[in-house]
Amino acid sequence: MEAREAILGRRSVRKFTEEKVPEELIAQLLEAGYNAPSACNRKPLKFFVITNEQTLSALNKSGKFTNMPSPLAIVVAGDLSRALPFGFSQYWVQDAAAATENILIMAHALGLGACWNGVYVQDSLVQKIGEILGAEKKVVPFSLIRIGYPKQTPPPHEGFNEKSVKYIR
Ligand SMILES: Cc1cc2nc3c(=O)[nH]c(=O)nc-3n(C[C@H](O)[C@H](O)[C@H](O)COP(=O)(O)O)c2cc1C
Repeated sequence: MEAREAILGRRSVRKFTEEKVPEELIAQLLEAGYNAPSACNRKPLKFFVITNEQTLSALNKSGKFTNMPSPLAIVVAGDLSRALPFGFSQYWVQDAAAATENILIMAHALGLGACWNGVYVQDSLVQKIGEILGAEKKVVPFSLIRIGYPKQTPPPHEGFNEKSVKYIR
C-alpha cells in the first residue's frame, strides 16, 4: 500500500467482527509501534497486547468512551523508569503518540480496523487501566487501541484546511 493511501485511508473504526487477529499480524503491529521515532531513541515504552476476553471486557467498562468491543487491544504505555533524564522526561508522551499512530496506520495497511481511545491525561482512567493490566507503578497507560476486522468502512480523508497553515516563503 502506498503511503498516501495508508495515511489518508486510515480512519477510526469502532465496530469489529469477532474474527481473531492472527499472531503474525499482531507481530507486525508491534514492530510498527516499536520502531516509531523516539527522542534519543530511548523507547521508554511498553506495549500490552490483550486478547483475553475478561480483560477486554474490563477495558470496555473502564471509561466513558471505551465501550468498543474488539477481539484485540493494544495499550501503549510509558515506562517512566526508562524515561530520559532532566527536562526531557516528558518526551515519552510524544514517543507514545508516534507509536500509537504507527500502529493505527499499520492496522489499516493490513486490512484491519482500529481506533485510538485516549487514556493519558484522564488520571482516573490511567489508574483504572493500569490496575486492569497489572502494570507496574512507573508504567503509565497512554492509549488504548482497539483493533479487529472492520464492520464499517469510513471513507478516506483528503485535502487539508489552508487556515491551519502559515507559509513562510
Ligand atoms: C488523543 C486521542 C484520543 C481519542 N479518544 C477517542 C475515544 O476515546 N473514543 C473514540 O471513539 N475515538 C477517540 N479518538 C479518535 C478520534 O475521535 C478520531 O481520530 C477523530 O474523530 C478523527 O477521525 P479519524 O480517526 O477517522 O480520522 C481519539 C483520538 C485521539 C488522537
